[in-house]
Amino acid sequence: MVRAERRPLIIGSGIAGLYVALRAKELGLRPTIVTKSRLEESNTRYAQGGIAAALGPDDSPARHLADTVRAGAGLVDLAAARILTHEGPRRIADLVRYGVPFDTVDGRISLGREAAHSRARILHAGGDATGASIEETLKRRVLEEGIDARERTVLRALRPGGSDGPVAVLSREGGKGLEVEAGRPVVLATGGAGSLYRESSNPSIATGEGVAIAFRAGALLTDMEFIQFHPTVFARDGAPRFLITEALRGEGALVRNAAGDRFLVRAHPDAELAPRDVVARAIRRELDRSGQSSVFLDATAIPADRLYARFPTVTRFLATYGIDPARDMIPVAPMAHFMIGGVTTDVDGRTTIPSLYACGEVASTGVHGANRLASNSLLEGLVFGERVARHLLHPTAGGPTPPDLVLQLPLPVGSGLPEERSGIERVRSTLWDEVGIVRNAAGLRSAVETFEQLGAKMEPASAREVPGPVANAALTAYLIARAALRRTESRGAHFRSDHPRTLPSWRLHIGLVVRRADSRGTHRPPTRVKRRRESSG
Ligand code: SIN
Repeated sequence: MVRAERRPLIIGSGIAGLYVALRAKELGLRPTIVTKSRLEESNTRYAQGGIAAALGPDDSPARHLADTVRAGAGLVDLAAARILTHEGPRRIADLVRYGVPFDTVDGRISLGREAAHSRARILHAGGDATGASIEETLKRRVLEEGIDARERTVLRALRPGGSDGPVAVLSREGGKGLEVEAGRPVVLATGGAGSLYRESSNPSIATGEGVAIAFRAGALLTDMEFIQFHPTVFARDGAPRFLITEALRGEGALVRNAAGDRFLVRAHPDAELAPRDVVARAIRRELDRSGQSSVFLDATAIPADRLYARFPTVTRFLATYGIDPARDMIPVAPMAHFMIGGVTTDVDGRTTIPSLYACGEVASTGVHGANRLASNSLLEGLVFGERVARHLLHPTAGGPTPPDLVLQLPLPVGSGLPEERSGIERVRSTLWDEVGIVRNAAGLRSAVETFEQLGAKMEPASAREVPGPVANAALTAYLIARAALRRTESRGAHFRSDHPRTLPSWRLHIGLVVRRADSRGTHRPPTRVKRRRESSG
């Protein structure tokens, strides 16, 4: 029988989860993937633009690093970003080895351009089907390798397991009982929380429960206030939300208002290719000014054959709404897209709980600072996934350094009331209305109150019971709002109309941890003395 510590439990099946599983298997471990939907259903699958890596003849990891740092608005963790950009090309080679069919020109990988990248460095596959291509390839390899994959199985809680690490409590969809997995390392690769916002580019599975479950167990979180909004998501009333990739702007598409004016030229010298937070905010301002529900992406200057060949996913989708981007304007608006913060990890994916790892969107390595550079997220899943896999093979003690400011927050003791669908809708509209692209104290306070009230109803009444999806959603939303309220400045993706300036004194990360008496987990004590520590709530 293979020992439990050599049988990691990997929660989630996006790029990070599948890649960790494959590498762990190659290294001689016996991983199990647990995923709440089908193996291939993940946020990764919907990524269009691509994956960034310094592969061009005029590029270098140092340039990629410089762009990542510049976009991150003063908060990028330099060590993590150096690892991301310098190890990135080797991880791309792994994807090629696994069979990801990246697009090529004359036998060389074709590199696209995206906002705030100083070089063409975005690899893509199937034109704009990059995520789907990667996901399908990794899934196929997982099945070929015979890796144990448990679909439609949900992580419900992490319970203290002493020095053996967390005990994962799982349940099968539709099944009544709970299954307990003890003594196995747990890798959270549960992805982001975009669909907790009413308006989002994310699939409905992106509900952020990894963050809520880790927080309840006592793990430290950081940077939860930084939610990235993608500037161009399809915005026709009554139609599904659908990402219109930034790569279109990289190819020359322009953003116009209803009068045809390119208002972005007044927002930033790089206009359409300015950092994502700048573009998203400028569009939001324009929508508020005009009272319209969308602005327009104008791709008509891109030759039609190039448009259809390079963007088959987008052009096919638009055709179902009678839009031909070679001729017509595309209605777009900014919507929630990516959770920059999450479960705090070091560069080996270790969290503050022994044997609990996190990687991909659910993790907070500090690599994105306050504003993620486009197409760095798939790369993050690979680069830190590799380090997690190696660490699973040769675990050592240690973990992340806590940030300068840590808020200790109480966990609401709930009444354990049955959850209602309306609870999720309340979370989604409150996050969008009060914790969106532009925030202020009054709105954030009211959001915090709303999420506290929901938690007080839906959190379990005792630590023996497991929370449901609405309790998880309310808690994740509460943590986002709580951090956003505390950061009384504007930086990167976090903009406060009541504190519009970026302040040097706020060049720090905000950590969140459950107040000790409430912790239901094994929280490793901080490894360093914090310079500022607050108790709140
Ligand atoms: C896009 O294709 O515009 C999304 C890429 C990303 O979020 O990194």
